[in-house]
Amino acid sequence: MLKHLIKNMSTGGFALHGYNEGSLHQRLQLLKASDTFIECLNHISTLNNEQIVIADYGSSEGYNSMVFLRQTLSKFRETSSSPILVFHNDLPDNNWVKTFKTILEFEDSYIKLPNVYFSAIGRSFYDQILPNNSVHIGLSSAALHWLSQPISAPDNCVPSCSNNPEFKALVSKVAHNDLVTLLRQRHKELVSSGRLVIQFLTESISTAASTTIINATTENSFNKGYITEEEKKNITIPMYGRTIEEVQNAINEISDLYRAILFTQVGESRIPGIDNLPDEEKANYVNGLKRLAAASLKGVIQKAVNRSDEERNAIYELFIKEMSDFVDTADVNHWPQYHLLVLEKISS
Ligand SMILES: C[S@@+](CC[C@H](N)C(=O)[O-])C[C@H]1O[C@@H](n2cnc3c(N)ncnc32)[C@H](O)[C@@H]1O
Repeated sequence: MLKHLIKNMSTGGFALHGYNEGSLHQRLQLLKASDTFIECLNHISTLNNEQIVIADYGSSEGYNSMVFLRQTLSKFRETSSSPILVFHNDLPDNNWVKTFKTILEFEDSYIKLPNVYFSAIGRSFYDQILPNNSVHIGLSSAALHWLSQPISAPDNCVPSCSNNPEFKALVSKVAHNDLVTLLRQRHKELVSSGRLVIQFLTESISTAASTTIINATTENSFNKGYITEEEKKNITIPMYGRTIEEVQNAINEISDLYRAILFTQVGESRIPGIDNLPDEEKANYVNGLKRLAAASLKGVIQKAVNRSDEERNAIYELFIKEMSDFVDTADVNHWPQYHLLVLEKISS
């Protein structure tokens, strides 16, 4: 069963090209964690460091991190001139060119603040990616729902929405082990009393616009005969929205390593004000969302459809057309709720 369900053991996340333009909602939710992050910076500055190292796990193309860090670091700069080094992390095939340009070229980038530096690491966050005792604050926003491995639900392309009890038990275990692994890796990297600030998409991920779009597009493409039953089963996006209880179980398992400072719900499930945006701005948002979905579906189709390149590309084009048609009729303003978790390292 396990062998059948887990297609291979490489990382399950996808680098999402076009993410900067299609992620307004993630940005708005992340900005709600600003005060918490500033409080963590203030806490860190009491630890007598020569410099402050921030690691941003799962940054994608960087625009959301850049806006968030501009807001929080400029506030912090009012009271501290400590050198700050930011590491952005994502998978090796992230659009790193865009990340570098985003951080360097935007007028209001955090990099324009005095004594702030940055670098990037293309490596899975399920590995240790920085030396022991080197990170003061770890940040991760809207990324930890990506499992470490591609995993297909027998009845649904998003594992956390499956109604198959055997599969659900299996994937819940994978999600638990992933979170514990990730927290153990971060524990090694953090300095003593360093903090992790994590924003999760929780269980309501099943109602996420992106998830609905993927399910509907897959179903429509199958009904129109573009993909076979087998290919439909192979279409998988290994996202897992953990329940509050599942997150709590992982925190309990590593309670010898971290003190939980905060675990709370943030944000609302609709993008504030989007319904009232002028037509042009709304169209920009919807086009961004389509680009994001199209980009993330490319790798998914490539893995799921075992045919010639020509046929596979043709299927991808049809799939994208289905997705675009669906988005035009869908409620794209709906998004899952988030939870904010702050952990402090209590041992070295
Ligand atoms: C939805 S984006 C979040 C981007 C940004 N943090 C934000 O708040 O808007 C999630 C990112 O996590 C990355 N990701 C998924 N699995 C990963 C892994 N194992 N290691 C590093 N990054 C991963 C994806 O490539 C994607 O860019």
